[in-house]
Amino acid sequence: MNKRKLLALSIATLMIAGLFTGCGSSSNSAKEQEKLTIYCGLMEDHMVKVVEEFKNETGINAEAVRMSSGEILGRIKAEKDNPKASVWYGGPADAFVQANEDGLLENYVSQNSKDIPEKYKDKNGAWTGIYVGYLGFASNKKLLAEKGVEAPKSWDDLLKPQFKGQVSIANPGSSGTAYTALATIIQLKGEEEGLKYMKQLNDNIKSYEKSGTAPARLAGQGEVMVGVSFLHDGIKYREEGMKDIVLTGPKEGTGYEIGATAILKGGPDQDAAKKFTDFVLSKKGQEIGQTVGSYQFLTNKTATAPELSNEIKDTKLIDYDLEWAGKTRSELVEKWNNAIK
Ligand code: F6P
Repeated sequence: MNKRKLLALSIATLMIAGLFTGCGSSSNSAKEQEKLTIYCGLMEDHMVKVVEEFKNETGINAEAVRMSSGEILGRIKAEKDNPKASVWYGGPADAFVQANEDGLLENYVSQNSKDIPEKYKDKNGAWTGIYVGYLGFASNKKLLAEKGVEAPKSWDDLLKPQFKGQVSIANPGSSGTAYTALATIIQLKGEEEGLKYMKQLNDNIKSYEKSGTAPARLAGQGEVMVGVSFLHDGIKYREEGMKDIVLTGPKEGTGYEIGATAILKGGPDQDAAKKFTDFVLSKKGQEIGQTVGSYQFLTNKTATAPELSNEIKDTKLIDYDLEWAGKTRSELVEKWNNAIK
């Protein structure tokens, strides 16, 4: 072979090799570019950690934004014809039930759903439970002592005159926590008495917050005497240094949430959404929360619940009617808005 032929052959070989290398790197970058947008209804630090672990495990470029339940529901309704996100991760299942009624969710039964008891999931896979949280009162023991009042032990205790302007709760329109509280009161007292109660309670409310985690924090910071929140949020804030928080539950019973996850109908990246669902239903995915201060009970039978949740495990619960609460959500929020005017 003469020198010229040898040179041509070498150049051709290099070009073919380059072609293959090029192919390899473009398929890698295609993989790197697999992405996922998540609307997230649970605590921000919990969300960040789960997304990070999911990225590490799958290489999928996931991004999440934290909103309260009502905000997510509003957003996905508005985006119905052109969904921007594919997963709704976290927040009480009531709003998921409503979203499913409105045709906004895609059924998906993950292989990990076998580890989640029936009572914690939709039978068609429209949503699946990832955790359970109990509603209750987070009070500031220093402020209580100053006023010589005991921490509330019943829903009616919140109406005490000593608590005037000293109770914080969120707005049930935006917050899943506050909607759980409203639906609980109506289930305990019936609609007429329940709405009357909410109107009376209105006199003692200092502020209606956007998120249901805020009332526990405000009590911890000494801004109010009592916050109505999920009790695990009270534990979180106390662990983070708000040592004056004391937790109580109402003696007549309280409502609870099944925190859920779902795939949004027509959203992009449906395969990545399925992988994310598999991940957050797994033992590993569920046990991440407790590493960043989220102390809900877990739905996966093989997962270990956070030790700190033991403190609230004996809270008296009502037989919360989730189907009813979900289906009646918009109507009930409107009635509440009219009642407190
Ligand atoms: O992440 C904390 C938490 O209390 C969850 O357990 C719950 O699902 C969610 O926040 C409720 O948030 P919001 O009341 O703001 O909708």
